[in-house]
Amino acid sequence: MRSVPLTLLLSAFLCATGCSDSGGEGETGGAGATSSTAGTTAGTGGAGVTSSVASGTGGATGVTSSVASGTGGATAVTSGTGGAGGGTGGAGGEEARVPAASASTLREAGEKANPPILIGAAISGGGLNNNDYKRVAAAEHNYVTAENEMKWDSVEPNAGQFSWGAADNIVNWAVSNRMQVKGHTLVWHNQLPGWANSLSGATQVEQAMRRHIEGVMGHFKDRIHSWDVVNEAVITDSDTGVGNPRMRPSVFFNALGDRFLDLAFEIAREQDPTAKLYYNDYSIDALNDKADYVYEMVKGMVERGVPIDGVGFQMHIGPPNNEAGGADVEANLRRFSELGLEVLISEMDINRCSNQVTAEEQLAYYHDIVAACFQLPKCVGITFWGINDGRSWLNSWSGALCNGQSSQSLLFNDQYQKKETYNKVMDALLGR
Ligand code: G3I
Repeated sequence: MRSVPLTLLLSAFLCATGCSDSGGEGETGGAGATSSTAGTTAGTGGAGVTSSVASGTGGATGVTSSVASGTGGATAVTSGTGGAGGGTGGAGGEEARVPAASASTLREAGEKANPPILIGAAISGGGLNNNDYKRVAAAEHNYVTAENEMKWDSVEPNAGQFSWGAADNIVNWAVSNRMQVKGHTLVWHNQLPGWANSLSGATQVEQAMRRHIEGVMGHFKDRIHSWDVVNEAVITDSDTGVGNPRMRPSVFFNALGDRFLDLAFEIAREQDPTAKLYYNDYSIDALNDKADYVYEMVKGMVERGVPIDGVGFQMHIGPPNNEAGGADVEANLRRFSELGLEVLISEMDINRCSNQVTAEEQLAYYHDIVAACFQLPKCVGITFWGINDGRSWLNSWSGALCNGQSSQSLLFNDQYQKKETYNKVMDALLGR
């Protein structure tokens, strides 16, 4: 297999998840801190798993975490207490999630791990019209992200007039299948309705952003586990995360500067004191310019006491984004988690179009990257960006080089049968 130790620059020619131009700068840090802990004990046999990890910000008291479970023969885990940071808390022991001894679905493997880990999928309204799609989605996952239906242009197509039908359909289906939901996404430069893109001036933009966050979070409150509060606020010269990282121009950044980030999280926390609040981005999966920039950006937020709970690493591997080996992903996730944040793989797929990622590499990536997350207790979820190859966004995205062909990027084929990629993910979740 071709070795790709660091984020590999695949091509500088594409704008995948959105392109833009230039921008401003990051932010400065203040006081406060975050601390976290993962204390873990594992035994044999038993059932249920509970875990809680709370992070304190702004100098608050550190954290607690408790995990108690048995995973049918799993053993031993080190445990640690404490946490670093401006408040109390000590050093930070950690580590090692204990896998289930066996599982027949990915969902079961995630639920029986100690601590458990959410197994997610991007779900589309169209997909829910297909019985096979629904069956596989509910059997294998317990965490749902709406692929498009909760974006600004879908839920607030006209200023101040909300439209909930498509989003409610997905959220209600998820809840009825005992799945958690991640709201995606509150503040993003892309898929904005025309009226929002035309806003200008700090007052107008702040008012619209506040109304949107309050309206959407208010509607879904109590049905949502977590939110992508801000999505893709940083760009580099290449969509692979290399070169000149900077804040992305957008209606939000242009009017409010860096402070739109803090503001979005503060409004979100006012609206929902318990939902997990995440920053989410692509091509920050391993160690590269963009990941370094985002690391400093969220570190500053943590130090200022901004209520951010975690970071989503999209993990779109292959064109048009980056490649990232398991060891680098692990090192990268770990450094973010050591800020006291949860980390997640939030949109994983591995594009095979144009053979830039070979079949063999794809299998190794699926295994090693999922394993990198799994072994970190603070990596709380792994979401795949779709259910089956035939419905992947990559098939029709010009930068993905598929030209309408299947990207072969996911865990199930067009007939909803498990692929070898599925087996690699299962292996990683079972510690094999
Ligand atoms: O809904 C319209 C439909 O009315 C129209 O006939 C059709 C014609 O092209 O377009 C439809 O909209 C498309 C939409 O998906 C819904 O299918 C858009 O053209 C298309 O651009 C849009 O693509 C989505 C993309 O985000 C937009 O940025 C993908 O489905 C979705 O998978 C993708 O998801 C993003 C995440 O939200 C953020 N991270 C990257 C990820 C992949 O790009």
